Amino acid sequence: MSIDIVPLTQADIPGAVDCVQKAFADDPYFRWAFDDPSKFNIQRNAASLAAHLQYGISCNCPISVAKITRAANETKSDAEIHLPAGTVVGVAWWYSPQAPSMAQPWSVWAQDWLLSFRQLIYNIRFLGRGGLNVHRYWIWKKVQQIAHDTIWQDPRGYYFCNVVCVDSKARGMGVGKKLMENVMEKADRENMPCYLESSKGYPNVSIYERMGFELVKEIECADGKDVCKLYCMIRNPKSKE
Ligand SMILES: CC(C)(COP(=O)(O)OP(=O)(O)OC[C@H]1O[C@@H](n2cnc3c(N)ncnc32)[C@H](O)[C@@H]1OP(=O)(O)O)[C@@H](O)C(=O)NCCC(=O)NCCS
Repeated sequence: MSIDIVPLTQADIPGAVDCVQKAFADDPYFRWAFDDPSKFNIQRNAASLAAHLQYGISCNCPISVAKITRAANETKSDAEIHLPAGTVVGVAWWYSPQAPSMAQPWSVWAQDWLLSFRQLIYNIRFLGRGGLNVHRYWIWKKVQQIAHDTIWQDPRGYYFCNVVCVDSKARGMGVGKKLMENVMEKADRENMPCYLESSKGYPNVSIYERMGFELVKEIECADGKDVCKLYCMIRNPKSKE
């Protein structure tokens, strides 16, 4: 069995959506934002994730997937992982740096509108947001914006790791690191910083520390007594000696 890291294509979107949904099922932010499991609509959520990934492809965002590959003569499922060739077992979904002083390109602006339009269509088709607590979503957006305004000191912007996940069957095998390295190495070559937020303190903070990130701030999204903590981490570019 081997796992390849390749750029996300249109054909990989369903597999990537499935991987993200499974990996984040127990994520503290996900549970806080989709707080009533009886209202959760997995198809509506999949449609939204697919629309966002499509947006990422259209905007040339650096998004990679980890896929199981096999030698041509190998036909059996892998004894250890039991997943067929082609299965997406990891996703790293980044946004490229955007300097606050630079105007957004019109092409990105057009994609923003297209994404909003798609979401509107899904709201009608699925009769709502699929269980997303919209009030909490906006709390998160506000808290996140305040954090970025204080933490993001580099005027050139940051490579922002929006989502990284690895299928539970393939964790601890170096897949997450390989997925992240794609962009981290590019950032190093360009002397650019990287940024991420994780709602899982343990074990994620130490996993990302091993990749060169430093914990810079802990923020809290609070809706009454229900609080979701986020760990904000920055990775400064490493120069090659
Ligand atoms: C976080 C995640 C992407 C890491 O991917 P992974 O493939 O398991 O990580 P890797 O095997 O590449 O390990 C990377 C490093 O962290 C270390 N590590 C891995 N799991 C660890 C754990 N549970 N505790 C401490 N360190 C760990 C590895 O030893 C490695 O360090 P090294 O390079 O010094 O050897 C994956 O665990 C995951 O998908 N978790 C669930 C979803 C999630 O929380 N996503 C992140 C939201 S921000």
